[in-house]
Amino acid sequence: LWSHVPSAPPDSILGIANLYRKDPEKKKLNLSVGAYRDDNGNPCILRVVRKVEQEPAPDHEYIPMAGISLFCQAAAKLILGENASSIAEKRVVTVQSLSGTGALRVGAEFLYRFYHPNPANTEKPRVYIPRPSWGNHRKVFESAGLKVSEYTYFDPVTCDVDAKGLLEDLKNNVPSYSVIVLHACAHNPTGADPSEELWKEILQVVLQKQLLVFFDSAYQGFASGDLEKDAFAVRLFEQSGIEMLVAQSFAKNMGLYGERVGALSFICKDTCPVDAVQSQLETIIRSMYSSPPANGARIACRILNDPQLFQEWKQELVEMSARIQNMRKLLYEALVSRKTPGDWSHITKQIGMFSFTGLNAKQVRYLREKHHIYMTEDGRASMAGLSRETVPMFADAIHDAVTN
Ligand code: LMR
Repeated sequence: LWSHVPSAPPDSILGIANLYRKDPEKKKLNLSVGAYRDDNGNPCILRVVRKVEQEPAPDHEYIPMAGISLFCQAAAKLILGENASSIAEKRVVTVQSLSGTGALRVGAEFLYRFYHPNPANTEKPRVYIPRPSWGNHRKVFESAGLKVSEYTYFDPVTCDVDAKGLLEDLKNNVPSYSVIVLHACAHNPTGADPSEELWKEILQVVLQKQLLVFFDSAYQGFASGDLEKDAFAVRLFEQSGIEMLVAQSFAKNMGLYGERVGALSFICKDTCPVDAVQSQLETIIRSMYSSPPANGARIACRILNDPQLFQEWKQELVEMSARIQNMRKLLYEALVSRKTPGDWSHITKQIGMFSFTGLNAKQVRYLREKHHIYMTEDGRASMAGLSRETVPMFADAIHDAVTN
């Protein structure tokens, strides 16, 4: 029956993590998937999460299709701001999601079913993602039946955002009404974010071209250690009054990776039938997975709604982001002290979990095969996966790969 089924290619991120798991070498290093490790290289449960986990779950009943409403409200406030007018004016619809990926997927499904903005054109608007983008973005939108294209984002020469190319592309090549996916902060995989000035210019083009923005916010508080700062772009766009979608993940910033905690928000205009939007989102969720899991969202809900726990969480965010920044500094210094050919200053300039090292696919494979160091083939390495002990090993391996 299934003899015609070809094997699917391995996932560009999780496929590498699988190879790592299978490697019998003891001194191996996994820098492929974005998962925070402590300074001993171990997975880390936040102290505040541990604390909430002591509280017994009230029951194991189903939660509603849209999730825990107190969690949804708190998630929307976290990203849009306490005083966001869209919240005060009840123009925000938020549903709980299976982390950020689930939020994107449910949002994509909704767009496929209901986004027909241009009566003169029956073709569905395309989704534009940055080049490069998170390895799963294209698949998530294509799985919903949407067509995906890319817009210019990164300049490999400067290892920074290609501001000019990005604006020109949005102005000249992206058709009006298209959906554009913007990484809210800590762009994955490049670690290069637009400046505040550039965000303002992007917003102007979005307004002129009537583009529909879908923010992907997977690292709030994790990029700079400051929840407000990391929400700058989303809040700037919200304040302009445009309609947009926001996917949020609590995988990294609360360390709730496997719990799949996220939220999808529609920020609507005052004319929007918010109840209808909510009901359609629930219909999509019901047919995909019925209702989301309770445990992780209950934990996040407690932390977001209790001022004391919230402060404790903020402190841990500062600690985690500082540790990552320290790993960047140590790696940079280690490469400079080894006189490894190349300019490695981008390692400390980039922010968030990842460094886009500039290593090519051949060098990445060399690191894997010779040194048992695993990173994605685009040259992305998780800085959060490094420790004081493993930085020298990584630097030695990079030196070897670059000079061989
Ligand atoms: C990553 O980019 O490594 C993370 O977002 C994990 C994932 O699901 O890909």
